[in-house]
Amino acid sequence: MVQLNKKDWRVKQKKSLKSYQGVNRSQEERALRQLLLQMASWKTAKRVALTLSLPFELDTQPLIKAAWQANKQVVVPQIKNQQMAFVEITPQTSYQVGPLGILEPCDVSIVQSETIDLVITPGLAFTKTGKRLGFGAGYYDRFLVNYAGPTVALALSCQIVPDLPQDKYDQRIMTILFNDHC
Ligand SMILES: Nc1ncnc2c1ncn2[C@@H]1O[C@H](COP(=O)(O)OP(=O)(O)OP(=O)(O)O)[C@@H](O)[C@H]1O
Ligand SMILES: [Mg+2]
Repeated sequence: MVQLNKKDWRVKQKKSLKSYQGVNRSQEERALRQLLLQMASWKTAKRVALTLSLPFELDTQPLIKAAWQANKQVVVPQIKNQQMAFVEITPQTSYQVGPLGILEPCDVSIVQSETIDLVITPGLAFTKTGKRLGFGAGYYDRFLVNYAGPTVALALSCQIVPDLPQDKYDQRIMTILFNDHC
């Protein structure tokens, strides 16, 4: 098989994610959420880092709501001066369109990364052993290198691949959740 570079993988994976819709996808997303909610690191976490998903990504809104319902604090990334920091969101938070066209919370305060109990990482593709392909900016790699807590990613079947190109700065994810048939 021809080895793809990271850039080509990103194009391929964005296409797959955009075209993977319908009932199978919603069932898969639900099953992945159930797997996460059973994890000890989720159950014990008081502060969870999530993302505000783009339309083609696994929908994180149900996870954000589940966290709030379980009295957890939710933090999401915010990029300032090329650095990623995490800020708390609550059901009262209002949002504005940020420079990249992505919704960003308004009036937020940055939390210290040591106080985050669990980081749920986004990504375009993963291997079952924790290799991750992100969106190409390196923000999560730079953050995770200094983060000692548990990391988890939820991978739809089209996001699980046999192998991925990795550079020395790429950080492994501790647990990749995927459905049985992958
Ligand atoms: N620890 C680091 N120190 C300096 N630069 C880094 C570090 N980690 C990643 N980078 C830079 O980030 C760029 C993008 O990294 P990579 O291609 O792995 O993106 P990614 O993992 O897909 O993105 P992301 O982590 O934002 O989802 C790299 O070209 C590299 O220069
Ligand atoms: Mg990387």
